[in-house]
This record gives sequence, structure tokens and C-alpha cells, in this order.
Amino acid sequence: MKIEPLTCALGAEITHLQVSEAITNDDLAAEIKALLLTHKVLFLRDQQLDDTQHAAVARLFGELEDHPLASSVEGEPGIIHIYKTPDNPPDRYENGWHTDATWRENPPMGAVLRCVECPPVGGDTMWANMEWAYERLPEHIKNDIDDLRARHSIEAVFMAAKPIEERLAMKQRFPDPEHPVVRTHPETGHKSLFVNGFTTHFTNYHNPRRVRYGQDWTMGATDLLRYLTSQAAIPEYQVRWRWTPDAIAIWDNRCTQHYAVMDYPACHRKMHRATIVGDRPF
Ligand code: SIN
Repeated sequence: MKIEPLTCALGAEITHLQVSEAITNDDLAAEIKALLLTHKVLFLRDQQLDDTQHAAVARLFGELEDHPLASSVEGEPGIIHIYKTPDNPPDRYENGWHTDATWRENPPMGAVLRCVECPPVGGDTMWANMEWAYERLPEHIKNDIDDLRARHSIEAVFMAAKPIEERLAMKQRFPDPEHPVVRTHPETGHKSLFVNGFTTHFTNYHNPRRVRYGQDWTMGATDLLRYLTSQAAIPEYQVRWRWTPDAIAIWDNRCTQHYAVMDYPACHRKMHRATIVGDRPF
């Protein structure tokens, strides 16, 4: 196989490989896992994968989980549909910078996304390296946020347009977890910035070190969260992938964010995502 980095920040394309070979080849599986730790997102085109093989490739990294709101492929509950059709035109969910499902106590370790059908142009996906986003913060900000914690919620995003009973029931099922603002990768030990579109507020900002008057809390905390959340949008931290049918992306959800660009007119864009269970962030 050949490995070609796509940007200085993250992402590498692997060619001359059918990733399904790794299902029965432990050495190859170990090599791909190591490449994922190095590059954070791996891209491959022209992969001959059905849903069962797709799930098996994802299971090389861990068990799979479903999504409380997305439908799943029949017989493979760990593979969800992310479909945009002319009747269900591009909408508002995946086109915001996010780390998948940080509203879970244990957000996913990663995912394997497969393109089934895509528009001829448009509908790219972008990823951002959140280790760089942390490392390159001004020193005084790094010092300020090292002990900070934040709450993440499914409520204000996926549930906002639902009836209140449904919204509250979902909140009971996934009570907004608290995560560190600076996360340590469980395998590499690298620190990354861990706030995203699901983060609602800091939980331990309001202390005498930061807050003299109430105003310091409301504005200080809001401005800091907005500043930190905006870091994923810095182009130097990003890679952008143009989809073709049968292309896949494998990403490490512990140190990246992603954004599905919805710049295409009403048409079919069909993606299958296998989501891999993760650890509790620390
Ligand atoms: C996602 O946000 O996981 C989906 C990305 C995409 O559809 O490109």
C-alpha cells in the first residue's frame, strides 16, 4: 500500500489496498491502526465493501454503537444511514464543526464512513486536528483552560425541534455529561481541545480566580467558549475530502472534529457510518 499525507495538519490517503483484507490479517490491521494514530483520518477510494464487511472493518477498532435518532442498516445496527434526498434536502445537522456524540458519557472512539452515493460535485467532508488546535493556543489561554470542564448536550441540537416530552425523555436517556476541556488521548498521550458544537457551558469556570463580578462569569465564560469552539474553523488545522462512490474515511474521534459541507442542491447523498464505542475522556 501507498500512504500519502493530504495536508500538513492531518489526513492521509491510502492507495493500492482493499481495507477488507485487514479483517483476516492481524498485521495489516495493526498497521492501519498505527496509521490512524499518526494521521488521525485515513481515506481510501474504490473499496469493495458491503455493509457486513464495512462493519467488520470498523470492528477492528472496537464494538459498534447505533444512534438514538438515525436509522440503521438492516441487520447491522452499528451502521447508520446519513441520507440526504430530494425529499429530505440538505439540512442543518452535520454542517457544523463537531466531534461525534460527545453527549455520551463515552463518546465514540472513531468511525468508518462509506460513500454509497454522492452529488457529482459538492458534499465534501472536512476534518480538523484538535491537537494542533490545543498546542497552538496562546500560552495564557492554555494555562487558563487546563483544569476547565464543560457540559455537552444532545438537547439543543438534535432535540431542539422535537416536542418537549421527546426532548426531556432523550435528556433522561443521555443526561448531559461533563467532559474535560483539554482531553488526553488514551493511546498517544497527546492533549487536544475538546469542545465542539455539542458543548453548552463550562461547569467550573465560576471561581474566585476567574470571576470578580457576575459580569466576568456571563461574558467571560461565553466569550472563552466561543473562542475555543471557533478553533476548528482555522484552515491550517484542516483537511477536505471530495467523495466518490465506494470511498471511505476512517477517523479518530478523540482528537478531531468534522464538518459535512452542504453546498449541493437537493439530490441524493447517501453515507453509511459505522460508529466505534469509545472511552470516557480524561
Ligand atoms: C458525520 O457528521 O458523521 C457525517 C459526515 C458526512 O456525512 O460527511
